[in-house]
Amino acid sequence: MDFVEQLKSSVDIVGVIGEYVRLRRSGANRYMGLCPFHQEKTPSFTVHAVHQFYKCFSCGAGGDVIKFVQEKEGVSFYEALKSLSERYGIPMPKRSTYADEDAKLRGALLSMHELAEEQFRANLQSAAGEAARVYTAKRGLAPETIELFGLGYSDRSGRALIRLFEQHHFTVAQMEQSGLVGKRQDGSLYDRFRNRLMFPIHNESGKIIGFGGRALAADDEPKYLNSPETPLYKKTNVLYNLHRAKEAMRKADRVILVEGYMDAIGVTAAGFLNVVASCGTALTDKQVQALKRHTHNILVNFDPDSAGRSASERNTSILVDPSDPGMAQAPHERGRASPTALLVSESMHIRVVELEGGLDPDEFCKVHGADAYAARIENAKGYFYWLADRARARHDTRTSDGRVAVLEFLLPKVQRINDPLERMAIANDVAGYIGVSAGMVLDRFRKAANERTEKTIERPRSPLRHDERMLLTALLTDAELRGELIGGMKELETIETLPSRRIFQAIFALDDAGGRVGFDEVNARLEEADQNLLAQAVLNDDGELSRDEVMAALASLRRTEEQNRRVQLKARIAELERSGKFDEALRLTVELQGLERTSSPRRGAI
Ligand code: CTP
Ligand code: MN
Repeated sequence: MDFVEQLKSSVDIVGVIGEYVRLRRSGANRYMGLCPFHQEKTPSFTVHAVHQFYKCFSCGAGGDVIKFVQEKEGVSFYEALKSLSERYGIPMPKRSTYADEDAKLRGALLSMHELAEEQFRANLQSAAGEAARVYTAKRGLAPETIELFGLGYSDRSGRALIRLFEQHHFTVAQMEQSGLVGKRQDGSLYDRFRNRLMFPIHNESGKIIGFGGRALAADDEPKYLNSPETPLYKKTNVLYNLHRAKEAMRKADRVILVEGYMDAIGVTAAGFLNVVASCGTALTDKQVQALKRHTHNILVNFDPDSAGRSASERNTSILVDPSDPGMAQAPHERGRASPTALLVSESMHIRVVELEGGLDPDEFCKVHGADAYAARIENAKGYFYWLADRARARHDTRTSDGRVAVLEFLLPKVQRINDPLERMAIANDVAGYIGVSAGMVLDRFRKAANERTEKTIERPRSPLRHDERMLLTALLTDAELRGELIGGMKELETIETLPSRRIFQAIFALDDAGGRVGFDEVNARLEEADQNLLAQAVLNDDGELSRDEVMAALASLRRTEEQNRRVQLKARIAELERSGKFDEALRLTVELQGLERTSSPRRGAI
């Protein structure tokens, strides 16, 4: 067994994927959940525990556990192997042949980021860092906070990093791909970050993958300069401070979501370790999934003005749909739901932290202290109450028209809650809060329900016949049954007419060659369309196969074979009669009668 096989057989795919996707058992060996590779409301993402593969019947994503880690973490094959082997304590072969170019590049880029961080940190303590130290002092950053967050300073020379990278023999191509170095028209290189306070950005496992650099002077534009997209850094995947915060997030079972680097740092310094920053971008599906792995309770604490800030000023307002009344709509936002909608539909429990005095979280902690901030956290309103308050401010809720208007505003948002019980409970709470009867809410819900058809978990429907599926599953999972079945099956012509014929042929060929006949081996021999068929066949299996069922499936296939044979005989007889070959026709008629007797035992018994 080579290392990849060994790894795959010791790793439980359901466990690995379960860290990213909430899986529900939907068959003996089958689990389903919401696909992590596209946005969906009803689960079409399926994992098979025995055959160790996943498949989304909606977007088509599929593969084995290594592919999953590659796609989900955005890492190379080699790195996925490494990460799984580390997680499961399976030693990798020393001189691995899997270390490909890609992994080498990423390795180099990671080292460059570490070197850069060291240099930036040293700069901040050096003579050149004087102005930056004045700035950090002005912002109230304590030495231990600077240390914890690895803050640094990129000097004015514009050459310091390049020189360092050259000393370490990194290539020009590597430097360019690091995002830390820019290239002029004339081909010369320069440091991307100059004269800025540097914030290292880590991935979830704590490796530095990029930097944000803050201008020291108010008139220095842009205020923040960030790493561009690189093989390491994908802005939309990253939550700033997640690697430090995740322990505390799990322990407290909640996360504080803020906007900026400085907010995450200020809130941490005040003693709240479970804080992450979205860094001024709209929250993405990937980021929500990353949060969900640690907690389902989220405290949104954005800058006081940003909730009401227009969509054109800010990438996206997190709390309010851009299409809501009172929100200016940038053209690209029209009709799009807010990231909060994403959080709601992902069953995150959202509360909104409000800070008075127009202060952002960092400033608030500094001005009012940790106890005051803790009180704001404890008093944070549930998202729907917060929304209700906003709507109430726009309508006169002393009139029933006003109350209905508020209800109309809220219900579509409540509808996004996937769990029907929770949806109902929230709707009732909200009704009580704005002063309308629960009956009215029910009424609206019924109307809405009529308009949309409620989808429930559905297993992928296989276009294959039941007997086909049973036999395929038996051939792939039970070596003993396979031995019994396969000889007879190879002789059945009917197999050539089945949609799954190429899968059977692959199994027969592997068996003839004396190789292992497992899901992976068969799957590897198939074209994509047949791989999909195989996945569907296998995913339809419901529970343990009994020998009787399998034999019944074989008998059913045999009956089809005979049926086909009879149809062929009848056609041949008709043809012979038409051309006057009556002797031959008679001989075949006798054969046909014989066939009908043996294949219809019940009729024979009468
Ligand atoms: N941001 C950015 N580029 C900008 C402005 C902002 O990438 N030109 C991102 C940064 O991640 C920043 C976040 O958006 O941290 C929030 O912006 P802002 O509130 O302006 O910055 P703060 O982090 O609060 O920084 P400061 O307190 O120094 O103003
Ligand atoms: Mn700020």
